[in-house]
Amino acid sequence: MTQAFDSIRAIFWKEDGLYLLDQRKLPQEDVELHLTTAVAVAEAIRDMVVRGAPAIGITAAYGVVTSAIEHQTENFSSRRASILKDIKHLSESRPTAVNLFWALDKMKQCLESGQVTGDNLTQLLLTQAQKIHEEDIKANYKMGEYGASLLSDDAGAVLTHCNAGALATGGYGTALGVIRSAYGAGKIKQVFADETRPWMQGARLTAWEFVTENIPVTLLCEGAAASLMQQGKVSWIIVGSDRIAANGDVANKIGTYSLAILARHHGVKFMVAAPISTIDMKSATGADIPIEQRDASEVFGCGGARVATDGAQAWNPAFDVTPAELVDAIVTEKGIVENPTLEKMQLHMS
Ligand code: MRU
Repeated sequence: MTQAFDSIRAIFWKEDGLYLLDQRKLPQEDVELHLTTAVAVAEAIRDMVVRGAPAIGITAAYGVVTSAIEHQTENFSSRRASILKDIKHLSESRPTAVNLFWALDKMKQCLESGQVTGDNLTQLLLTQAQKIHEEDIKANYKMGEYGASLLSDDAGAVLTHCNAGALATGGYGTALGVIRSAYGAGKIKQVFADETRPWMQGARLTAWEFVTENIPVTLLCEGAAASLMQQGKVSWIIVGSDRIAANGDVANKIGTYSLAILARHHGVKFMVAAPISTIDMKSATGADIPIEQRDASEVFGCGGARVATDGAQAWNPAFDVTPAELVDAIVTEKGIVENPTLEKMQLHMS
């Protein structure tokens, strides 16, 4: 199945293994990295070569295949033990995106299934990783349809935060998939994108995705979002998520919570698009979601140059939690949960 505005991919399994588009270098350079060990894959996730919750999960799944190849000369039981050790290492790369743990669990189940032998192990793991990858893309197409159906024909313009696009997923994107579909349907004419400090995913990645696909995109500093809404320039905020708790609380890129408060104040609707693999029914509320704290150096500078004065400290949480009561709709590949609550989320997941 192909869609309009669907030309971008960031994760590739080729004959000689895993390749990742290096997202730290975009948009200035288009560089693919070839990764041949699970340790290198974990490092690529930690260092933001690949980022975005579903993309992290898919990459980790291929990391397990890489591990199987790396340890192929070992006898069967020590090879399995080596792969399990690599799975643990991959699981420690980033803490918030539950898609990572979801994908690694699937790979572990495959590794421990009765069908596995020394001869078919790599192929079975590769088939599982490719399934996770392909199903993520299909889920994004479905979310695109469901999410776009919520927008009126004259939705005009929307605002997004961070990058929940093709680069952050197997392809097409969650929030950006909804925007792609709504733009294709003629419902929106313009996308606003927060630049998204400190990694600038909005300025570097979201803007690049839209410019690449000829969708009009306007960047703004996060601090300009309140004025944008005050002036009635957007009808919806559409974002992705790293983990959604059982009660509908949403963890996403730092700054998402402020947008949700602003949206409610200004009568702007707030949509979260995320696959079922992002929903963590074991986290009762957002308070149970581990929030990654990243290095202070990321806040001190911009584009590799030091900006902050020496002597200052920095607080650098990578994500925040938006309470469910500020969310108008959670969109997954299974459909739409409006005004999410525990009961509605349980029904959606059943
Ligand atoms: O730190 P990042 O770039 O991995 O953060 C990404 C986000 O916050 C995305 O919005 C989220 O993972 C959803 S991606 C479809």
